[in-house]
This record gives sequence, structure tokens and C-alpha cells, in this order.
Amino acid sequence: MARTSRFPGFYKITVAERRLLVSEATGISSDEMETALASGGLEADTADKFVENVLGTYALPYGVCLNVRVNHHDYVVPMVVEEPSVVAAASSAAKMVRAGGGFEAEVDAPLMTSQVQLTHVQDAPAAMAAVLRHKSEVLALADRAIPGLVQRGGGARGLEVRRLGTAADRMIVVHIHVDCRDAMGANLVNTVAEAVADRLAALADARVGLRILTNLCDKRCVRVTCRVPAAELATETMSGEDVIDGIVNASRFAELDPYRAATHNKGVMNGIDAVTIATGNDWRAVEAGAHAFAARSGHYAPLAVWRRGAGSPGVLTGRLELPMALGTVGGTLRVHPAARLSLQMLGVTGAGDLAQIAAAVGLANNLSAVRALATDGIQRGHMALHARSVAVAAGAAGGLVERVAQMIVEARDVTLEAARRALAIARAAHDEAAVEGE
Ligand code: MEV
Repeated sequence: MARTSRFPGFYKITVAERRLLVSEATGISSDEMETALASGGLEADTADKFVENVLGTYALPYGVCLNVRVNHHDYVVPMVVEEPSVVAAASSAAKMVRAGGGFEAEVDAPLMTSQVQLTHVQDAPAAMAAVLRHKSEVLALADRAIPGLVQRGGGARGLEVRRLGTAADRMIVVHIHVDCRDAMGANLVNTVAEAVADRLAALADARVGLRILTNLCDKRCVRVTCRVPAAELATETMSGEDVIDGIVNASRFAELDPYRAATHNKGVMNGIDAVTIATGNDWRAVEAGAHAFAARSGHYAPLAVWRRGAGSPGVLTGRLELPMALGTVGGTLRVHPAARLSLQMLGVTGAGDLAQIAAAVGLANNLSAVRALATDGIQRGHMALHARSVAVAAGAAGGLVERVAQMIVEARDVTLEAARRALAIARAAHDEAAVEGE
């Protein structure tokens, strides 16, 4: 049965009801879900095997992004994030994109790159030529260091040499590109770097410097596009056409100004990081790669850009490209029950699919942010969500939560005091209606 990611009214039901719905839709048993998500998905004893000096664990909210369709498949996408409105924003933008056919995505082969720095190089051109002449030998040496990966169909695929700085620096760097299959790959490429370094230094008549992966894994990029019909973007006060103009204007602002591009990209990473964390991956690596890629031209630029559709002016088109080092095997995934649950929920078979989904959610978050900024401003939506927690803090429960939240947002006074007053009024109205109904 094809999965659905559409659950109208999902935000209005209880946590237990949501778990039930998702378990029915994804085939994960309720027991499995309860166990994996109990105590933040990680026991202190297990955490003790992850890192050092453990005292306990630190839980974050685990939500799901709905409405996501990538390459004609539906996904219920787990997101781990502490910031209110990120999950709601991604879900609502994914719904708009869905009306335009969903996200289209493509991903490169899973190539990660080892860097071997060579210093004290006597004759850089001769050193570079010598390394290149022995390319096959070096790649074979690399493969011998990672036999398990080679057995799974991966392995060393290419070698490049770059000269760094001026002649006075006497430095070159050798890149070995390794197909890491469904692994994130950091350990694999670090192993390769260390295994080939001495031979490279001998070939180059140089000394070994650093041996480590690069997080600017630009041979492992993902590209996502979407098309949103104008009608989906309209607000109470702005036509869809005007919203398209506003979003294109927001994109141009980010393209022209690195100060805005940083914030624009933060919005993209809100979604990508949340999926990266939920699936047990290294979000610092993804962040490092994303920002280095954004600056690759020498000018820090937005990762996602928006335009009117060429040939279909009533459509907004978006495009996001960035490196994405995500794994679906190894590392944290082996030991973190909630990370395993996330992969099961997504139903992905490999790292490429996961990269495409994470990028789609990133583009959704960016769309939501630029649409809000180009229309009502970001605070209105944020306040509407914040108002719900203020209403709960004031003592509202059940249907009164939404009512009180609405009242304090309309009064533009989202404070505990205002929520208490609104709750008293809402309760009185509720009691009156009950008496009339008797
Ligand atoms: C907040 O987490 C993200 C935004 O600042 C992104 C943006 O400005 O595009 C709203």
C-alpha cells in the first residue's frame, strides 16, 4: 500500500492519537513507537556508549512534517527541533508544493573526499605529476584499507591533486574520492587518508601533513526543485501573484546581500538539521558543508533561489542545491532506537533517498519563511503558535486552548495575564452555552 503523508487536523489531536495514526500509516507497531520514543529515545546506559563522561541524556521534541511528496512518493518525515513553528511551517509549505505536483529531487553518487596535505614540497609540478602517474596504485592502496566497503560495492573512485598558496608555502593536497554507499562516510574516508598518506609523501618527495575528510563534499550534492501555483500562496490580504513577486524579491535580496543570505540559509537549515538529527546523522557536518558550498563562488550566497516559472508566470519555482553527507547505515543508527524508528517511518532504502527528503524539507522551510516575510511578517505565525502554549500555561485545556490562543492573538497581547483573562471569559461563555443547551 502506498504511504500517505496527509493527515488533516493532525495538530488538533493528542500525542497518543498521533502516534496511532502514524503507526497505522507506516506499519510501525504502536509498541515499537512507544519504546523508541520513551525517555527521548535514548537510555543513559546506551548514551554512555556514545560519548564520554555521560551523566544522562537531553531530550528534544520529536515531531513529523506532513504533506511531503518527493519524486511522487509520500513521506512522513521525522523532525527533531526545539524551535516552535519549524515543523508547522515545513508541513504547510509542503502542502502548497504538493498542489504543484510535489518536490522533484536528484542526488549525486555518494562520493566523500579524503584530503592528504603534503608539506615541504621541493618541486610542486613534479610532485603533482608523480602522484597522478601513480593514481591506480594509490586507489588500490585505498581500497585495501576499506575491504568491507569495497565488498558492499563502494570504494575509491578518483584522485585529484591541488596546489595551495604560493611557491613559498610548498604545499599540495591530494584528494581521494570514495564511494561510501549508504554510509555517511567520515570514518571510511579518514581511514583512506591515513592509509595512503605515506605513499603519497614518498611519491611527492614531501612530508605528510593532515589526513582527514573534507566536509565540503561537493561531489555528493542533492538538488531539489518545486513549482507552486499562485493560488496556493495567496493570503487574506494579498493575491498569489503579489506573493510570488514578494518571494522573488526576497530571493534577490538574499542573492545580493550576504547578511540576508545567512538568515535565508538558516531557514533552509531549520528543516535539514531537524531531519538530520532525527535520523541520527551528523548535523555539524551537514552545516559545515552547506555554508562552505554557499560561499564557493567567493561570495556567500543563498542555497535556495525563487523565480516566476519560465513560460508559466502564475507559478513560483524554487531550487535548492547543497552537499548532503547523510547515512542510513552505521554510526549512531546502530544504537539509537529513535534514529532507527525515523528511518523505518520514512521507509527509505538508502542514503540518497534520505538526502532528497531532507533537502525537500529544507526547501519547504525556506518557502514558508520567505512567504511569511513577504506577506504578514514572521511574528504573526510565530505568535499564533506561541499563543497556544501560553493558553495551556494559563490553564486552558481541550477546545479552550485554541479559543484562548485566538483571543490573545486578536488582542495582540500574548501574555500569561491576558491568557488568564481570556480563559475566564471563554469558560463563562462555554458554561452559558451549556446551560442554554440543557
Ligand atoms: C527562523 O528560525 C528562520 C527565519 O529567520 C528564516 C528567514 O528569515 O528566512 C525566519
